This record gives sequence, C-alpha cells and structure tokens, in this order.
Amino acid sequence: VHKGNGVKGLVDSGIEKVPERYIQPSSERIDKLVLGSYEHSSPIDLSKLDGPDHDQVVKAIVKASETLGFFQVVNHGVPVDLLESLKEAAHKFFAQPPKTKAAYLKGVSPSSLVKYGTSFAPDKEKALEWKDYVSMVYTTDAEALEHWPKECKEVALDYLKSSTRMVTRLLEILFGNLGVKLDDSKLESLTGLKMVNMNFYPACPNPELTVGVGRHSDMGTLTLLLQDGIGGLHVKLEEDVLSGKKEEWIEIPPCPGALVINVGDALQILSNGRYKSAEHRVRTTNNQSRVSVPIFTVPRPTEKIGPLPQLVERDGEARYREVSFEEYMNNFFGKAHEGKKSLDFA
Ligand code: SIN
Ligand code: FE2
Repeated sequence: VHKGNGVKGLVDSGIEKVPERYIQPSSERIDKLVLGSYEHSSPIDLSKLDGPDHDQVVKAIVKASETLGFFQVVNHGVPVDLLESLKEAAHKFFAQPPKTKAAYLKGVSPSSLVKYGTSFAPDKEKALEWKDYVSMVYTTDAEALEHWPKECKEVALDYLKSSTRMVTRLLEILFGNLGVKLDDSKLESLTGLKMVNMNFYPACPNPELTVGVGRHSDMGTLTLLLQDGIGGLHVKLEEDVLSGKKEEWIEIPPCPGALVINVGDALQILSNGRYKSAEHRVRTTNNQSRVSVPIFTVPRPTEKIGPLPQLVERDGEARYREVSFEEYMNNFFGKAHEGKKSLDFA
C-alpha cells in the first residue's frame, strides 16, 4: 500500500502501532537496555593538531580508534552553519510528496548516483529497520550537481568538500601511528569512493519494538557522521577478557557543532586488527523524527584490501585474507545487518 513512501509514509498514514514486519526479535530490542558507564573523552579539538598539543591530539585519536572505534571532533573545518543547513535539507528532502521521492527508488532512479530507499536490505531482513534514506555517490562536482536531488545537492557537496581533507588527515595520522607512510596514490585508492547519505528516522509509535538501524559495522575506512540533537546512536564496547569487563553499549551523545568519526571494516583489515570497526546501532524515539548525515569514505572497488605487509611482518600473521573491495561491498550490501559478521568475509 505504501510502497515507495517508506517508513515516513506509514507514519503519515496515521498508524498507531508498528506493522508486524518492523517488530524486532526480543534479542535486538533496545528499550530496556542499560547503557554502559564508559568515560567519554570530550570531543577532540582538531585545530590543536597545528599547535603545541599535536602529540596529545594524535594520542587521543589513536586511542579512540583502538578501543571504542568512535570519537567526536570539533574545529573540524566544516562550517557549523553548514551542519545546520544539512539537517534542514534532510528534513526538507523527506518532507516532499511521496511521488517526488519515489522517482529515486532503485530501478527507476534516473541516475546510478542516487538511490532513495527504506531499511537496509528489505528483501533479506527478518524485521525491517525504521529508517528511510537517500544515498548520493560522488564522482565529480559537475555530476553531483547534475544528478543529486536538488533539495540537498548543494549542501551535501559542500559538506563532502569541506570534510575530505580532514578525513584524509585522520587516516594519515592513524597509518602514521602504525609506522606506515602511504604514498598519495595508495591513499587515493583507499579513499577513492565517497558517498553522502541522508537518513530519516520518523517518530515511532513503538520504540520498544523497533530499531532505527540494526547492529552493524561500516564497511569503509572512516565514516564521518553528523547527527542531530535527538540521540540514540549506540556503540558496543566489546568484552575485555583481560580486565574482566563485560560487553556494554555506550551512547555517542549529541554534541552541538561536533562530528562523529568511526572506524570501518576496511581500516580494521588494513591495520591487521589494530583499529576497531565498532558494532553500532540506532534506537528509535516516539516523539520526534531524527536525521543523520554520514559520509562514507571507502576504497575504490578495484582495490585489493588486506592487512598492510609491514604489519603482517611485525605481527607474524595476517588476521584477514586479502579481498577485492568490490566483492566485499557486494557481500556487505547483499545481507541484512548482523553485527560484525561482515568482517567474516575477509
Ligand atoms: C548508521 O550507522 O547506519 C547510522 C548512524 C546514525 O544514524 O546515527
Ligand atoms: Fe553505521
């Protein structure tokens, strides 16, 4: 009935209870969850990379990437008013009439660079995620401006362009910490594919039964994420056998002006497991619609991804096999979200 209008269409039709196909098995529900008491480091001030505190900032970036796999940054070079415009643009895109959005559905979208959809892999999922999205692939500025939806193309492109240098710099820092200096062409191959998504999580009548996004890790090197003030992004801190600490879920708290950074599978593989591609998920809420705007920085599909040779030598083993990133992506998108299972492919 609501085909093509996603979860928002359901909500706009006035449902009072979520349909059966959105009801998660009890193991995946978040409602009664007690969040862990992990001490959050405050957001990392990237402007300090250029001053006397450089080494401390590098340490904080490395430590977060080795443990939680998530951190937040401020003074990141993306203008704060652009962050506001992005959230507005996301709301504006999803507020459009169903027909306008449906024009970008898979199979009918006029461009392979744009896809509008709902949930993650609806054909494969036992329970659907409470989320609609539009995904924009970057090739060139001209193609972005020609093909991306007009309600959001300019801000999305500004966001991408004003953050690219920062993301590359973070990768240089993370590889540098491992004693690896990548030349420009290797760095370019590892970051050559970029996608900007706009996610829309409508207010949900039964947050206790649903998830906005199910447990997963991201596939690329680093993900940059803008979230709004509503909250609900949870990250799993894995059990630590050494200290005897049990696994716990930690909230990444909304922080005005900040951007979230997280490690993806490709960086975990390249680093031979040093950096953690953390499992994360999103809770739904019952009173407001949440938006988030990630940029995925991903290796070129033709690139072969495996633990870097210098690290394999040092560690005495390769903890992952080498994979073509294209095959990795096909596997990733061909399955429902299921925690860190995506990494089993490597
Ligand atoms: C995701 O990880 O897929 C979405 C994160 C968010 O919306 O905060
Ligand atoms: Fe994610």
